[in-house]
Amino acid sequence: MTATMKLVSSVRRLGCVLAFCFLALFLWGLPVARALDNGLAMTPTMGWLHWERFMCNVNCQEEPDSCVSEKLFLQIAEIMASDGWKDVGYEYLCIDDCWMAPERDSEGRLQADSKRFPGGIRRLANYVHSKGLKLGIYADVGNKTCAGFPGSFGYYDIDAETFADWGVDLLKFDGCYCDSIKHLADGYKHMSLALNRTGRSIVYSCEWPLYMWPIFKPNYTEIREYCNHWRNFADVYDSWQSIRSILDWTTSNQERIVPVAGPGGWNDPDMLVIGNFGLSRDQQITQMALWAIMAAPLLMSNDLRHISLEAKALLQDKDVIAINQDPLGKQGYRLRKVQ
Ligand code: GLA
Repeated sequence: MTATMKLVSSVRRLGCVLAFCFLALFLWGLPVARALDNGLAMTPTMGWLHWERFMCNVNCQEEPDSCVSEKLFLQIAEIMASDGWKDVGYEYLCIDDCWMAPERDSEGRLQADSKRFPGGIRRLANYVHSKGLKLGIYADVGNKTCAGFPGSFGYYDIDAETFADWGVDLLKFDGCYCDSIKHLADGYKHMSLALNRTGRSIVYSCEWPLYMWPIFKPNYTEIREYCNHWRNFADVYDSWQSIRSILDWTTSNQERIVPVAGPGGWNDPDMLVIGNFGLSRDQQITQMALWAIMAAPLLMSNDLRHISLEAKALLQDKDVIAINQDPLGKQGYRLRKVQ
């Protein structure tokens, strides 16, 4: 082969390699922005979260059955495992705010309120795992949680290690009491990296964009790189007005938020309130259908110990769940609005 032929052949080979690289980059970048690289939440998280139904009820003296306590979580875990919930996919049993003691321990670690959680979180996690379920917990990026318990600011690494040490599988990280937008962003990123460094698989549920919106438009590509799901809008309540306002917000911002959702990272319109008191039958069906279409995390907040057969059948509807859990993970758009 002459020198010229060799040169032409190498240029061709290089051309092929470059073309392949561009194709690979194109395909890699095509579906959605890069997700948090922890391999979790490849379909929307399913489970139960105490907040909407039980809020910050710490009065176990007078209301032992509905206060935020170990007893509540043990009972819900038992039911999730034995009443078909786990079988259809509801896997994460999540504690929200108000589980903590008012102070950290002498080593700066968060601790559970010892009266309401006498066995501590590690023992609760063991029980939850023994039922084939996973345990979620709650903390806050700022100086205090929204209900005034110790915040994680200045303690991100310690808290991530503590949660991993206890065997926690999901962290809901709230955004109250954060003094600047820079602290908010830095804190959410710091905790994401700290959780990853523990080596334990911990789903990271953020409220980062919710707290950013009043100041400026969130960068969802960045948020997706750090969080497995993120709350965008106000807390859900047990009323149709609340569900309507979430749907209105989601659809009016859909061009911005829908394209970013996909395996590993999801928009979180907040909990399912099906099985409570405020929604009619049709409104409950509507919440279930639209949360499925929105590829939303399906986190119920209700009392599984006292739930109607109708609500149970709706929440356990395998066909609707299959739409929510579709591995392609495409969030639906609103195409038309009928006035
Ligand atoms: C905020 C969150 C809620 C809940 C409460 C707890 O309002 O958005 O989902 O976690 O804090 O105090």
